[in-house]
Amino acid sequence: MSDLTLLNVRKTYRTKGRPEVHAVRGFDLRVRGGELVGLLGPSGCGKSTTLRMIAGLEEVTGGDILVAGRSMVGLPPQRRNIGVAFENYALYPPLTVEENIAFGLRARGKRDRKARVADVAGRIGLTDILQARPAGLSSGQKQRVALARAVARQPEVLLLDEPLSHLDAAQRDTTRRELRHLQQELGYTTILVTHDQEEALSLADRVVVMNEGTVQQVGTPDEIYDDPANLFVAQFVGEPPMNLLDGKLQPAGDVRLAPEVTPEVTLRVPVRDPRQADVTLGVRPEDVALTGQADADLSGTVLVHEDLLEYGLLTVEVPGLRQRLVAQTEPGLILRPGENVWLSLHRERVYLFESESGERIR
Ligand SMILES: Nc1ncnc2c1ncn2[C@@H]1O[C@H](COP(=O)(O)OP(=O)(O)O)[C@@H](O)[C@H]1O
Ligand SMILES: [Mg+2]
Repeated sequence: MSDLTLLNVRKTYRTKGRPEVHAVRGFDLRVRGGELVGLLGPSGCGKSTTLRMIAGLEEVTGGDILVAGRSMVGLPPQRRNIGVAFENYALYPPLTVEENIAFGLRARGKRDRKARVADVAGRIGLTDILQARPAGLSSGQKQRVALARAVARQPEVLLLDEPLSHLDAAQRDTTRRELRHLQQELGYTTILVTHDQEEALSLADRVVVMNEGTVQQVGTPDEIYDDPANLFVAQFVGEPPMNLLDGKLQPAGDVRLAPEVTPEVTLRVPVRDPRQADVTLGVRPEDVALTGQADADLSGTVLVHEDLLEYGLLTVEVPGLRQRLVAQTEPGLILRPGENVWLSLHRERVYLFESESGERIR
């Protein structure tokens, strides 16, 4: 179990005649031996570039990458003992699936090799196609072969870039579970890139949220969800997404919702350092409750109420408020469009962000 450390890792792409692209701007991370870290962020934020630098497929512009305390910078990929399964890291067409998986194991004895391949192939559901060649495989099968190949060679560090993206929903669930099981059993230090928050939150020990080349937050799935560092993380993580409402922070520490809301709505949400500012008030749908008029923070009319079996999702239009408010409701409840409802916000679970900087102030 080797740990992996990234120290102020940077990557700038310079293409002649084009503006520079700062793909990664100072990435710091320490992955403990055997830990699975999920790297989550929107398309183009620098996830693949980060992995490619760790793998040695791309040079760093600055900073250092250490595996078990040893710097990898300058070493070619084959000298890094890092297993990779990337979307564009192709299989060898003339080789069978079995040979592809065994490819990184050439240094071992033949019997040992066969047993390893059979074990990994069995777990990832490839036993029936071991003699097939890549050309005849579906994209989902190819992806699982690439995953098996990366895992089979028992690397110090395993890097997976969207490893489940081509699988259908059922296969993704099984493969995800098998992958987690293998990773834990074999103790691989792993970074898994995904743009799918559910995948990151369910699979990873810790999650790194990235945007525009910078790390926004590093934390356990619970920390990322319950204690988002800024507006970006708050709106990026959570499904259905957090409600974000425009407001103005008053000197006394109250928040007045968008001035257009009449009658005026002011919420008592104490802030440590109140200053007059435009703020964004965040509250997750599960922290918005239907209530009686006397206890209500807001009232509005039902736009739509969806029954999702485990719970309902209620979308409410609040007069004067630009955003619609989404609330999670008890299963079985029936609400009709146009009905008037009263809502209260769970005070301890209300977040405040400075609108302009996105900085969390509560
Ligand atoms: N070889 C390259 N040359 C120039 N720009 C690149 C290259 N590879 C990636 N980029 C740019 O770097 C940024 C980050 O890309 P990437 O790491 O692939 O993001 P992600 O994997 O998060 O979608 C993007 O703006 C992308 O266009
Ligand atoms: Mg990518």
